[in-house]
Amino acid sequence: MNLLDRLFSREIERRTGAHAITIYIESENARKRSRSRGKKVIQSANKKPRKNATKVTTKKLQGSFLQRIDTRFPWLKLFAVCLIGVIVVLDLCDLTISHTSNELNRIRIAPMAKHVRVTERVLNGKKLVALTFDDGPSELTTPRLLDTLKEKDTPATFFMLGSMTRTYPDIAKRIEKEGHIAASHTMYHQNLIRISANAARDDINEAKATYSNTLGHDPTLVRPPYGNYNDNIRNAINLPIILWSVDTLDWKSKDVDAIVAATKNQIHDGAIVLMHDIYPTTVDAVPIIIDDLRQDGYEFVTISELANIRGASLTPGTVYYNFRP
Ligand code: NI
Repeated sequence: MNLLDRLFSREIERRTGAHAITIYIESENARKRSRSRGKKVIQSANKKPRKNATKVTTKKLQGSFLQRIDTRFPWLKLFAVCLIGVIVVLDLCDLTISHTSNELNRIRIAPMAKHVRVTERVLNGKKLVALTFDDGPSELTTPRLLDTLKEKDTPATFFMLGSMTRTYPDIAKRIEKEGHIAASHTMYHQNLIRISANAARDDINEAKATYSNTLGHDPTLVRPPYGNYNDNIRNAINLPIILWSVDTLDWKSKDVDAIVAATKNQIHDGAIVLMHDIYPTTVDAVPIIIDDLRQDGYEFVTISELANIRGASLTPGTVYYNFRP
């Protein structure tokens, strides 16, 4: 065997870990060399070597089936790693699909946004609740709230003001990026039923344009300020209108204990909880509320997930207060 042959046989020995391997390496050149030296050619037991082709025959290979496969197809490992990589990348790209299985009642977070974390929570047998935060995003409080929600793997729905979204576009983008829903709370928080129909329409449309410019798409849900609407407003909004069934009165009390107590007193399966992410006391109360409600058998979902699980089709112009089972 020449140097190349020896290296080749050593490599195969190394890969298989077998000591008793007999390797016959035959090539046209080697055979010629051997003949010229008058030595007997090492040949594989039964087969004649093909011309112009290096033939490697392993005989009495020892080791497991996997080791033998590895020896014969050394590229297989690399191929498997690449295949797994491709599957992972495809899976990460497929975040826009909201998937609900009736059998396991599992849901994939982040049905709205691309580039978000993918987490699967088992919701089987859990009571569901949607936390909602109005009037932000605020530079002073919203990032801390987002940190808490991330730490506790809790999705929420943010009804953002267009004016605040324009001021803090990066926070608005972060909200979506982290798997929450960024929805509209109109442009300037006007009481839409107290202004002219045209002014209300302008406000709604300006908010829509601001979201579109910031996030790259129109909002899909709207909460009119103070929960006030009439038929004209419903028509002008032309999106599902989301109100609430649990009012924490966080804007009024600005007290952590009071916010936690108000939530626990009114909570129910399918609840929509109204809070505001512009108050530090609200941000302080949120981790306590999350822990308490989880202990009571609740799990947290976005408004879209809640509607989806409860079989409610979110219809434009329709007002929703909760999604009870
Ligand atoms: Ni508001």
